[in-house]
Formats: sequence, C-alpha cells, structure tokens
Amino acid sequence: MPKSPARIRKAVFPVAGLGTRFLPATKAMPKEMLTVVDRPVIQHVVDEARAAGIEHFVFVTGRNKGVIEDHFDIQFELERTLAERGKEKELSTLQRDLPSAGQTSFTRQQSALGLGHAVWCAREIVGDEPFALLLPDMLHFSAEPCLSKMIKAYNEVGGNHSAVSPVPEDQTHNYGIVGVEDPKSDVSKITTMVEKPKPADAPSNLHITGRYILQPEIFELLEKQKPGAGNEIQITDAMLGLLEREHQDFYAVRFEGEIYDCGSKLGFLMANVAYGLSREDLSAPFRAELNRALSK
Ligand code: G1P
Repeated sequence: MPKSPARIRKAVFPVAGLGTRFLPATKAMPKEMLTVVDRPVIQHVVDEARAAGIEHFVFVTGRNKGVIEDHFDIQFELERTLAERGKEKELSTLQRDLPSAGQTSFTRQQSALGLGHAVWCAREIVGDEPFALLLPDMLHFSAEPCLSKMIKAYNEVGGNHSAVSPVPEDQTHNYGIVGVEDPKSDVSKITTMVEKPKPADAPSNLHITGRYILQPEIFELLEKQKPGAGNEIQITDAMLGLLEREHQDFYAVRFEGEIYDCGSKLGFLMANVAYGLSREDLSAPFRAELNRALSK
C-alpha cells in the first residue's frame, strides 16, 4: 500500500505587512486586526486553519504587531469580569477561540524583503515537515473551508498544493498565475507558474489565491532565492523551483467560493457584507438595512 503523506500540522501566517492602503486606520493597529463583523481578519483565517485540523499556528510578525500576540493569548482579567457579570456567551466565545498553551509561535521578519522572505523566517519553527501557508488578507468564503478541501486532496496525492481561481484576463499582473494540465479539473497538476505576469505572458487565467500546502524543501530554495517581481523575494519563484528543479508534484485545487481581499477597501467592505449576511443573529436586520440604504 502506498504510504500516506505526512500530516499537515502547522500553518504559517505572514502578518508583517504595513497596511499602507488602510491608513490612518492602520497607523497604530495592525491591518490583520481590522474586524469583519466582530472578528479580526486574522481570526477568520485562523478559524479556517483550525477547521482543517491545524494544530500549531506560526505567525511571522513585525514591529507594531504585538497586539496580534495578545489577541491569541488568554485575557485573565477580562474573562474574570465576564464571568462575574454572567456574560456566559461572550466568555464561551473567547474560550472557544483560544489556542491551547504552546499552540502558537511568533517570529519576526526583520526586513520587508517580500513574502518569500517572510515564509523563510518560519523555517526553524516549521522544521522538516510539510505545512500550510495562509495569506491573511485573503478571506476565502465558502461552505467547505478552502484549506479543508486542499488537505483532502493532499491526503490523496501528497506533494505541494495551491488553491486557484479564475481572474479577469486584465488582472493577471496583480497575482501569481499558474498553468495546469487540465484547466477544467477540480484538482490538476501545475505545469508552470509566474508571479504577476502581463496578460500576454500569463499561462492561464488561474490565480494563486493565497492558500498553500508546501513541502519543507521550499525553505532551502527560499534561502537562495533572488528577488523577483517588485524586487522582492517571491514565494512563487521558489515554488517554481520545487516544480522544475526538485521535480516535486504541484497541484492546483480549484476554490469555488468567494474571495475577499481585505487588503483593499472594497474587498474589506464586501467581506463585511458577506459575513454579516451569513450570520444567523444579524442576517435579517442587516439585509433590511442594506436594502433601505440601497433604495435611497
Ligand atoms: C501574493 C502572492 C501571489 C498571490 C497573491 C494572492 O501576492 O505573491 O502569488 O496571487 O498573494 O493574494 P501579493 O498580494 O502579496 O502581492
């Protein structure tokens, strides 16, 4: 019987970005702490990883990001006050969301050299095992969480995986774009990838959405990776190395839900609309208010 692939236990969250597109909101607060309804963006992404069975959460942070660490820590005084005031619901939400002691790690990206460099900063904590990588700006909204679908595919075939979804052809220069063996298939082998190509150079219209499963050899490639698009060390370039130089399998897993780029104002507003409408406690009054606002 073929050996089943190593379990994906750890997930990396690069959270060092400055959030300049959200100034002044992000002057003193990390962009990952902006709220979509009543949960910070980073909490939604950690929720997705937890739902997929991730047990260790690795945050690559930077200066001014200390509040993210506090968010994932116990707040003893707050919990005591909530208990004293009989706020059981709020208390149980906090307790449910709290990772167990030792389940989180924080390391700092000391210089803003690009996403690939941020991931490389997690090498000692991840060690020699495959891991998930989730880009916190991109909220993946769907019935089956994106990473759960990817881990299912990974458990069948092993290797490396990237979630993909189509973008309009004139948008390819904003994303990593992959070429695949079978563009119609739900899970297909990747044949090539390129970071931020002009439409004429794009191998397809399938973009890398910001959810990955990567083999640990990626760290050796990142170590030597030269700066690419935007003069930054790009994860996509190192991933191409896994595919072409290491001859590892790389799969594209189609994501069928909606993606909200919470690094952009419009994406962030739309995420609040979608998540608000999906909430049982808010949906009906929120819909009524939205309709009222739209009819003005
Ligand atoms: C990063 C990746 C890119 C991917 C994108 C998804 O780019 O490098 O391949 O398509 O995230 O959001 P960034 O948005 O950091 O420029």
